[in-house]
Amino acid sequence: MKHSKKIVSLLLVFAIMSCKQKQKETVEQNLELTYEEMNASKDVAKEAFNDAKYGMFIHWGLYSIPGGIWKGKKMEELKGPRVAEWIQFGAQIPRDEYAQLATEFNPTEFDADAIAKLAKDAGMKYLVITSKHHDGFAMYDSEVSKYDITDASPYPKDIVKELYDACKKYGVDFGLYYSHNIDWMDGNDCGLSEYIASGGEMHDRVKRKAGVNTWDPSPNTFTEYLENKAYPQVKEILTKFPDMTTLWYDYPHYVTPEQSHEFYKIAYDLQPNLLVNSRVGNDLGDFDIPGDNKIPNDHLAITKPWQTVGTTNNSWGYKSYDNDWKSVKELMFWLTEIVSKGGNYMLNIGPKASGEVPQESVDNLLEVGKWLAVNGEAIYNTRKWKVTHEGPTKIEMNGTHDRAKKGDLKFEFTPQDFWFTQKENTLYAIALAYPKDNEKVIIESLTKENLATIGSVTLLGDSSELTWKQTSHGLEVQLNEKEVNPNGYVLKIEY
Ligand code: GLC
Repeated sequence: MKHSKKIVSLLLVFAIMSCKQKQKETVEQNLELTYEEMNASKDVAKEAFNDAKYGMFIHWGLYSIPGGIWKGKKMEELKGPRVAEWIQFGAQIPRDEYAQLATEFNPTEFDADAIAKLAKDAGMKYLVITSKHHDGFAMYDSEVSKYDITDASPYPKDIVKELYDACKKYGVDFGLYYSHNIDWMDGNDCGLSEYIASGGEMHDRVKRKAGVNTWDPSPNTFTEYLENKAYPQVKEILTKFPDMTTLWYDYPHYVTPEQSHEFYKIAYDLQPNLLVNSRVGNDLGDFDIPGDNKIPNDHLAITKPWQTVGTTNNSWGYKSYDNDWKSVKELMFWLTEIVSKGGNYMLNIGPKASGEVPQESVDNLLEVGKWLAVNGEAIYNTRKWKVTHEGPTKIEMNGTHDRAKKGDLKFEFTPQDFWFTQKENTLYAIALAYPKDNEKVIIESLTKENLATIGSVTLLGDSSELTWKQTSHGLEVQLNEKEVNPNGYVLKIEY
């Protein structure tokens, strides 16, 4: 009897304890996580992002139809940025008139499989496509708005879904771009007046009304746009495409800290491991974007993982008359310069309205892909070394217009130029030019003081050990006679 009483009271204590534990867990679950906690929980995803290094960006939408020319006027004769996806802003096209483009959008040449395969063959590890750009048109089948591909255009398929599935097939990670602040169709004045009323900082963009629809704003308020379109659509894409690695917001001119937090949190609640870019606004975000077509000079000051986004010509959306395609050599430079500084490169393609990808992009991407098939070991899963580059060629890239202005840039490199990356006990020296006449090369950063214990030096793609010696001038390596790939080679230095 005494014994069973003891058991009953023990069970009671146990029941009370487990009940208390349950209550504690519920309270914890109900507690709002802070931004710092959400951000800090993504360490594994951040490492994966730092490993991936190279991805494909796709800008595609109704703006691909005019391709940078509206009623005979080119972007350069219109207002605002010269990139083709800004044509509605540039020509101040009324919403109804612009929406007519949807009735013409019938990309019969679109082949999701071919695009995902292109990314794969190009050596790109992930792909991010515009689910909705500043014009407000959704490229996926949205229940939230009828201004989307399946409802407003004659094209029956959900483009984003097709790509999502094709990326899965080829093992390419998937992400979506979403213009959260600027929406020329439904976003009223893009939040400008509400931002000013909330006491937002009067930075230069606010004064210039950058990106604001001043010519034909929608009749609803910006808050209504957020509640009825932007937040629900972001929830919608995160639900429809449940396996995403990045959500790429753009651009946060008039977004308040509370709104940025909300956009960040929606992503966290639905896909806790997904990374959000810094353009969510107000210093939030899991990775930084130093700027469009910009390679940071101050990369050591960037504390988050980062990504340079770049164009293959000078526009994101298809621009029919922009033939200033980056050469293979130039693309090689961007990739190695960025990766040697520890960043990611997301390179854009802008398909035509038909769905066809401009051949120049395809050819150049595939050439880089061939190089990566042999030398990718020096790119993927690497980290920056204490020296990023040595040699005489210095090229700065400070943005889309900066490159376009510099027009005559030559991407010619010398055999003395080397970029570095590292992985565990291996250092990679990447060269974009092969020395003529079977000369030896000297890597000046690799004196004994900098790297004392070199064990072997090989050429990627060729396992035989090269003849080398370390002198007070650096590491001298005798290359084999043949030029392996005109776009460059990599020395693998194990220590
Ligand atoms: C800018 C532009 C936009 C483009 C983006 C790419 O924010 O407004 O058109 O999508 O940069 O990074």
